[in-house]
Formats: sequence, structure tokens, C-alpha cells
Amino acid sequence: MRVLVTGGLGFIGSHTVVELLEENNEVIIVDNLYNSKIEVLEKLERISGKSIKFYQYDLLDKEKLDSIFAENNIDSVIHFAGYKAVGESVREPLMYYTNNLISTLNLLEVMKKYDVRKIVFSSSATVYGEQETPKYVETMKRGETASPYGTTKAMIEKMLEDLYASDNSWNITILRYFNPVGAHQSGLIGEEPNGIPNNLMPYVMKVAAGKLEQLSIFGNDYPTPDGTGVRDYIHVVDLAKGHVKALQNSPDGLNVYNLGSGKGVSVLELVTTFEKVNELKVNYKIVDRRPGDLPEYYADPTKALKEIDWKTEKTLEDICKDTWNYQKNNI
Ligand code: NAD
Ligand code: UD1
Repeated sequence: MRVLVTGGLGFIGSHTVVELLEENNEVIIVDNLYNSKIEVLEKLERISGKSIKFYQYDLLDKEKLDSIFAENNIDSVIHFAGYKAVGESVREPLMYYTNNLISTLNLLEVMKKYDVRKIVFSSSATVYGEQETPKYVETMKRGETASPYGTTKAMIEKMLEDLYASDNSWNITILRYFNPVGAHQSGLIGEEPNGIPNNLMPYVMKVAAGKLEQLSIFGNDYPTPDGTGVRDYIHVVDLAKGHVKALQNSPDGLNVYNLGSGKGVSVLELVTTFEKVNELKVNYKIVDRRPGDLPEYYADPTKALKEIDWKTEKTLEDICKDTWNYQKNNI
């Protein structure tokens, strides 16, 4: 299959490109390098031993996007490109709505023009909002989103539903990621957040490397086994494989899948596992809860196993090892 990967030099996109090439797909990447580096392209070619066609275009530029479809006989699209920083989206909502929504509209219009009707979209567990139980299943209704970022994901899901309702020759797969972490086992590609990280794993990584002094654990009085927040952390390589499975196995129509391990892990459990497998200390202190955080949620990944034959294979130990291996390689 000839697959266009938007945002293919970013964290999840780059790992997915490796898995697509592994399965002998042809890959074309479009990325404007807003949150990624061109060196990733060379690393992807090194890991895969294949050359990759790359366009440094912005999806907001519809004419340029059109030219990619005119030049290549594209079969399907995996759409990662977008802004993803929750806090920034609260400060700059218009920037988030413009980039995430207009990019997607441009892409869908151009796909329609060239009769490419198969798309896999990066959504997020954040679209569930707060639910009655912590185990999130696809049959639950989307909830209240907690940020403009989350709202863009919910709005794009709705746009895709409307598009499918208007023309059911589309094959649309919406993947709701839980908490993507980890790095490729080669240590060549991984997550490189700009500035001080907001998310737990990149913060732990920087404290372990001595680049940040201390991790703040946001609250230890939640109604969870050890009082700290519980999430479903998914290794980015497992997540990447989920995209390949979705392309291969998604049934006709519009399908939504949770991509998570199904297992909740607390902040303290993650930190102590990181310390144990890497034989080091992570300096931390307990502070107040972070406003807006939910106590606990994790995926019910049953549907993805049943319908696209996907489940996570990597453990929390693998996640911690691969994260640290990447950090050591990139100090
Ligand atoms: P990332 O920022 O590493 O990758 C996104 C890539 O898209 C970047 O390389 C960026 O340069 C590119 N990009 C952004 N806007 C663009 C535009 N207008 N035109 C062309 N390229 C553009 O992010 P990621 O972590 O790899 O996430 C990929 C997708 O998955 C995003 O849509 C994100 O919202 C979603 N997602 C991520 C997480 C997570 O925790 N990482 C969780 C749930 C969903
Ligand atoms: C956050 C986003 C979510 C997004 C996801 C991407 C919020 C409210 N939610 O999820 O929309 O899809 O990232 O991965 O921002 N923690 C600490 N100390 C830290 C950082 C985090 O204790 O320095 C705790 C948090 O309280 C939480 C857990 O670690 O319990 C995970 O936090 P984080 O990595 O930020 O992800 P989420 O908040 O789950």
C-alpha cells in the first residue's frame, strides 16, 4: 500500500513509519517541521534501510497538499499532523482550532478530490472526558473535553462521522490513544518535547538525566491504591503497530478503537519501575493535585483485539528501559 503519513517526523508518526516500512508499505511523509526535526528522516532511513519520500509542506497550504496527491498514487492516509500541547491550547485556542481543524478539512477535501477514501485518524482518550467508571470503552459517549486541544479531537471525530454519513464509501478509522510513552529500541527516535515537559514520562526522563532537579507528583490523596493518579501508558512501538493493523484489518465503514494496554498504572508505580529497571534514582516530591486531572482512567482494548487483531506486547519495564535508552543516546 502507498501510505501518506501526515506529521510523519513527529513522535508517534516516526515510529509508525518504521512499522509501515517493515510491512513493506511505501511511505510518503508530509510534515512542516513545526514540532520535529529533519534529522529524524535520516534516522528513519537508517533504521529501515529504505529511502522515504518527504515533503516539507504545511497542511494549511491546500495547493501544496494537492500537489502531493497529484504526484503520487496514494492509497491511504494516516493523519498525525496537529498541535498537541494541552496547556498551550488553553492559552492559544485559535492557533489550535486553526491548525488542527483547517489542516484536517484541507486533507479530507483533497482526499475526496483524488478519490482516496481510507484514513486513520489520531484521536485521544481525552474525548471521553469524565465517565462514571475508569475503564473507557468505545460505546461510551464522548464527554466534556477539558481543553481546546481535546475539543479539536472531538470536533474532528464528529466531522469524520458526518463525512461518513454523507458517503459511506469512506473507510475511516479513529484511534483513541491512551498515554503514549517509550521510544524505539534502537535509541534513535523517541519523544523530544520542547522546553520543560508537561507530561509525566518526559519529566521523569529529564530528572533521571539530571537535566531537571525534581519531579513533582501531583497529589497522593486520590481514591486509587497508592493515592497517585492512574493512567494507561502505552509503548509507542505498540501504538505504531496498531496503525498498521488498522490499515490492514479495519472493517469497512467508520470504526473507533481504543489503543491502550487495559492496565492502569499509578504515578508512583511508574516512577519506582523506572528506578528499578534502570538502576537509578528519580528525585521526587509530592505536591498538590494538578487542576483538571482525573484520578484514574484506562482503556478497555477488547474491541481492537477482536476486530483488528491488535494488543499491546510491551511491558511497563520495556517502556522504562526504552525511554532511558533513548535519553542516554541523546544526552
Ligand atoms: P508530534 O508533535 O510529535 O507530531 C506531530 C507532527 O505534525 C510534528 O512533526 C509537526 O511538525 C507536524 N505538524 C503539525 N502541524 C502541521 C501542519 N499544519 N502541517 C504539517 N505538519 C504539521 O505529536 P505526536 O505525539 O506524534 O502526536 C501525533 C498525533 O497524535 C497528534 O495529532 C496528537 O494530537 C495525537 N495524540 C498524541 C498523544 C500523545 O500523547 N503524544 C496522545 C493522543 C493523541
Ligand atoms: C495529558 C493530557 C491529555 C493528553 C495526554 C497525552 C492533561 C490534563 N491531559 O494526559 O489530554 O491526551 O496528556 O499524553 O494535560 N503527573 C505528575 N507529575 C508531572 C506530570 C504528570 O504527577 O510532572 C501525573 C498526572 O497528574 C497524571 C499522570 O502523571 O496522573 C499522567 O500525566 P500526563 O503525562 O500529563 O498525562 P495526562 O494528564 O494523563
